[in-house]
Amino acid sequence: MSHDLRAELMEILPEEKIPLITRSFDIYGSKRKAVAIIEIPKELGDVEGAIAQALMKINKNVKSVLVKESGREGAFRTRELRLVAGAPDTEVLHREAGCLFRLDPKTVYFSPRESSERDRLTAAVNEGEEVLVMFSGVCPLPIRIAKKHKRIRVTAVELNPEAHNYAIENIHLNRVGDRVLALQGDVREICPKLGRLYDRIAMPLPKGAFRFLDVAVPLLKDEGFLHMYHWADENDLFSEAKGHIRGAAEAGGKVAEFVNWVRVSQYSPRTWKVRIDARISPL
Ligand SMILES: C[S@@+](CC[C@H](N)C(=O)[O-])C[C@H]1O[C@@H](n2cnc3c(N)ncnc32)[C@H](O)[C@@H]1O
Repeated sequence: MSHDLRAELMEILPEEKIPLITRSFDIYGSKRKAVAIIEIPKELGDVEGAIAQALMKINKNVKSVLVKESGREGAFRTRELRLVAGAPDTEVLHREAGCLFRLDPKTVYFSPRESSERDRLTAAVNEGEEVLVMFSGVCPLPIRIAKKHKRIRVTAVELNPEAHNYAIENIHLNRVGDRVLALQGDVREICPKLGRLYDRIAMPLPKGAFRFLDVAVPLLKDEGFLHMYHWADENDLFSEAKGHIRGAAEAGGKVAEFVNWVRVSQYSPRTWKVRIDARISPL
């Protein structure tokens, strides 16, 4: 697709600008209506309109093109996105693995690139489990889990009210209301009041999930599983995250046994998103 974008622009833009056109962009949405999010370097600022038009020409479903104006920021992990072409309404219905997620990438976190990571976590869950998904966004992971397992109960906790509203809609759209309970608020305030224990807790907030381990560990059943995401330096990908989990388990009078530790994706030139899966047992 990126090759097509460059090919499409070959006759329109000066030759020296072509290699600067990004090789990757994200498309959110459906065959009927999609939104593209693209990075455009400063050197291409004067031709961004032409790039956006070309992108829409080769992807007929793309009705709006948004340019990244910042990295992900703040507690909600959203970024500034500027409309460069197409319709200002950027709400989409995104399809993934037979599930539908309505969302607006301008107001909530969602990444189509994390689909295979959701595949992996969904596959790790066993039928009948009680699962807590902290930092649940528009509920892609809880819904994926609930679609696969019919006798499951998933609790989802999300701070961003807009993401929570989409989560409620998405739970309804995917008909998993009997299995997924979405709550809006801070994990630190909501989770200790849930009054139940979990077989499995997912913590998909690489920027700082470890700070909530003191909330997660006491909520796990004996031999419960923790899936924690973390940003790690490329020189030592796993020690820091494992240290946080080990420390939190010990502080809670438990012991952590590491089951998997995987490099998920590159976040910046020297930083990777990693996932640690740990079984937490009584001492
Ligand atoms: C990296 S995003 C992941 C969202 C979702 N799990 C997904 O994969 O699409 C992290 C989410 O955590 C939420 N968040 C951040 N701090 C939180 C907190 N203290 N309590 C609850 N949610 C929080 C953000 O609003 C954001 O939606």
